Amino acid sequence: MKDIEKIREQFPITKSKVFLNHAAMSPLPKPVAETVRKCVDEFSNLGTTSIEWNNGGKPFFAKLVRAEPQEIALVENTSTGLNIAANVLCYPPGSKIVTTDLEYPSVVYPWLRKSLGVKVHYVKNIDGKILLKDIEKAVDDKTVAVAVSHVEYVNGFRHNLQALSEIAHEHGAYLIVDAIQSAGAMQIDVKRDNVDFLTTACYKWLLSPPGAGYLYVKKELIEEFEPPFVGWASVKQEIFETIDFWDIWSLRLSETASRFEVGSPSFISLIGTTEALKIFLDIGIENVERKILKLTDYLIKTIKNLGLKLQTPEEQQCRSGIVNLKIDRPQEMVEKLSHKGIIVSARAHGLRISPHFYNTEGEIDKLADAIKKG
Ligand SMILES: Cc1ncc(COP(=O)(O)O)c(C=O)c1O
Repeated sequence: MKDIEKIREQFPITKSKVFLNHAAMSPLPKPVAETVRKCVDEFSNLGTTSIEWNNGGKPFFAKLVRAEPQEIALVENTSTGLNIAANVLCYPPGSKIVTTDLEYPSVVYPWLRKSLGVKVHYVKNIDGKILLKDIEKAVDDKTVAVAVSHVEYVNGFRHNLQALSEIAHEHGAYLIVDAIQSAGAMQIDVKRDNVDFLTTACYKWLLSPPGAGYLYVKKELIEEFEPPFVGWASVKQEIFETIDFWDIWSLRLSETASRFEVGSPSFISLIGTTEALKIFLDIGIENVERKILKLTDYLIKTIKNLGLKLQTPEEQQCRSGIVNLKIDRPQEMVEKLSHKGIIVSARAHGLRISPHFYNTEGEIDKLADAIKKG
C-alpha cells in the first residue's frame, strides 16, 4: 500500500500503541473523530437543524457490499439485525436452522428461544474449518435458514458464501450472514453470492463509533416480510416527508428495507460511520483486503518461526483479518503485551491478533519480539 506513513497519520493510535485488535473494537481514524466532534458541537450550539446525516450512509454501505441503497436498513448493531432476520421467518413444525460450532452467541441465540420451536443444528468444525460437505449433509427440506458469520470470530475462518447460498437455496432455505468480522476487511458481494440477509455493526473493521449498523435484505424478499417491530421509521418515505399529521389508522410499510427500521437512529454515530465508509471506498476494499492478507501471511510465518501453533486454518480461500495462535494462559499474555502498548485479545485458549490495513510488518515484529520475551 502506497504512502503508508501518510495513511498512518490518519490513525492517532499508531503514535502510542501497536493496535492489533480490530476484531474487538477499533480506534477511530482522525477524519471520523473530527466529523463526530463537529457534529456534537453543532448539535450543542445550533440544535439539529443544520445537521445533514445523508440517509445514515446507506448508499455508501450499499456500494461496499454491492447492494442497492433500498436494500439497506439502519440497525443499532449486528445482534439486532440477526434478530430481525430470525423473527420475520416462519417455522412450521419440525423446522431447523443450520449453523456452526464456531459461532458468536448472537448468531445462534435468536433461534434458541423456546417460543420459536426450532431445532438448531451445529455443524462441527474440523481443525478450525467448517467443511462444505458437512453443511451439505446438515441442510435438508426442513431447514428454514443457514445462519453463519462470514468470518468466524474465534479463529478467522472465512466461509464461501456463494457455496453456502447454493446449498441453502436448493432446499428452499435462506442464507443469513453476520458480517461484523468481514465488513471493512474482506470484499463482500451480496449479489454474486446470492445472500438473503446480511448484517453488521461498524465499530470493528469499519472503524466507526458504536451504535451504527446495517441490515441488507435482498430486494426480492423485502415485501414478503412483515417486520417484527414497527414505528414511524417503518412506513413509506412519502408519508413522513409530507406529513404534518400522521395517519395512525393504517400501517403503510415502506417497500424498501427501511420497513425494518423502527425509530430515531443514532445519527451522531452514523455521521461518523459515513465518514469511515468514505475511507474504504476511497482506498478500495480490494486494496484493504490485499494488505490485510499480506500482513496476516507475514504474521503466520512469524508465528511459525517462533515454533508456536496456529489455531487458524492456513488455506488462502478461508483466511481473513483474524489469526489465532495457541498459547498457555493467553489472558496473562494479553495483559503483559498491553503493558508494552501492544493490544490483542484472548480467545479460545489462544491469542487473537487482528491487524488492519494501516498496520505494518514492523509492528508484527514488535509483537513477536514481546511474545518471545514472554
Ligand atoms: C461474529 C460476531 N457477531 C456479533 C458480534 C457482536 O455484535 P453487536 O455488538 O454488533 O451486536 C461480535 C462481537 O465480537 C462478533 O464477533
